[in-house]
Amino acid sequence: MTASAPAYPYTPETGGTAARLYHAEYGSRMPYVDLTAPRPEAKSYPEAEAIALPYPPRASAGFRAETPDGLGDLLALTYGVTRIDWSGGGVRAGRPLPSGGAAYPGELYLAAGFGLCHYLPSAHALERLERADARRRIAEALEAQPVERTELILLLTSRHEANLPAFGGFGHKMQALDTGVMAGQALSLIEAAGAELRVHTRFDEARLNEILGLDPRAESVRAVITAGRGRDEPIAVPAFSTDPGASHAGLPRRIMSRHTAADGFEAVSVPLPRVQEILDAAAGEIPSDIRAGHGTEFASLDLYCVANRVDGLEPACYRRSPTTGALGRVRETVDPRTLFPCGGDGELAGFQAACALLIVGDYEHGYRVHGDRWYRMLNLQAGILAQRIGLAATGAGLGSMLRCDYQVKVADRLIHASPGRTVLVAVLIGLEHGVGRPGHRLLLGGYGS
Ligand SMILES: Cc1cc2nc3c(=O)[nH]c(=O)nc-3n(C[C@H](O)[C@H](O)[C@H](O)COP(=O)(O)O)c2cc1C
Repeated sequence: MTASAPAYPYTPETGGTAARLYHAEYGSRMPYVDLTAPRPEAKSYPEAEAIALPYPPRASAGFRAETPDGLGDLLALTYGVTRIDWSGGGVRAGRPLPSGGAAYPGELYLAAGFGLCHYLPSAHALERLERADARRRIAEALEAQPVERTELILLLTSRHEANLPAFGGFGHKMQALDTGVMAGQALSLIEAAGAELRVHTRFDEARLNEILGLDPRAESVRAVITAGRGRDEPIAVPAFSTDPGASHAGLPRRIMSRHTAADGFEAVSVPLPRVQEILDAAAGEIPSDIRAGHGTEFASLDLYCVANRVDGLEPACYRRSPTTGALGRVRETVDPRTLFPCGGDGELAGFQAACALLIVGDYEHGYRVHGDRWYRMLNLQAGILAQRIGLAATGAGLGSMLRCDYQVKVADRLIHASPGRTVLVAVLIGLEHGVGRPGHRLLLGGYGS
């Protein structure tokens, strides 16, 4: 930080009051979602220099930030257009990661030695906004120091017009979860490429918006990822391997196979070790600047499993111990079948699924340290975990489905957590019905083929 830079939290703060009001009014329940609401055109910079990236990108875990070509695979797997889905008589572009209402309010920008660019997923191209190296200016706007030598900086933004028409006020919470999902995807890929990295949530947003030339009333920076040097070649993965590194190497394949289990689940049991494996993958440390000061313990998220058809677990709600990973039954709780509203899609999906994994966090303790910004920080972390769950489920041969339409009060009674802790998002897991949705993969090279 420079001496003249404003101090964290940089923006006017109400110490959590504004966030509390927002949550009570909009964020604590998913409203009726208008999926026919108008969608904006994809964001693009027609005046900018367009740099085509190598096509088809390889489904590989590796990147080199010296040239645009070295980043094509990473960008495609993080946020590209990776498949074409035909369903319900319609067709749409499929992406490598989920987004609430398939709205994809996020945009992906990057800073590297060759300049500052916007990624255009539909064309798999970079739009160069500036040739100058902006990395230092961006790093100066961050509260925490980036990794030792930052080769690449990813900037994740959210655009209001992409999801507020469909979700109303709830769209702001969705944006925070979506940013987390995107950050989780990038994080998994950069880790798999062997690079050091850090997710930043504490930064001078106004300065970063200015660097990107954004009007914050329309679009704003929500997360920054700084990364060191990555491997540029895919790691060889034996078909069956006990090498712990192999699960990282297989990540591109999992990303290419992941999709929401839109055709539902087979109403059959899944073995407990599969569920535990997924929870363990989600619970790994997030390399980030998120700390709740004196209340570090409150900054961490908790994972719960509402078992429905899990071999070895009676139907009930269980909490994963952060220290041992064991699932302990939550006592004196409500009927888990009431998690989703009666008669809705969620109830049917929940009935078929093997279990609902609940991601739980604490708003109140974080407001004391980070103020209103904590609302986004917490949901961003939840998004990271949700994305890890989706990828781990795919790796375990299971389907997944993120859901925000659970009954918050019921969910909070179910988990029976200490005051302040609440369910942030739910992920249904189970054996996917049929063979899953038909999809045509657009990434043909390397491990995706
Ligand atoms: C934060 C978040 C919340 C979501 N909530 C729901 C939900 O409540 N109900 C639902 O059916 N799908 C939900 N989804 C899944 C999206 O509808 C799905 O990701 C999107 O249609 C894209 O399809 P794909 O995941 O198959 O690529 C959610 C996804 C995200 C990221």
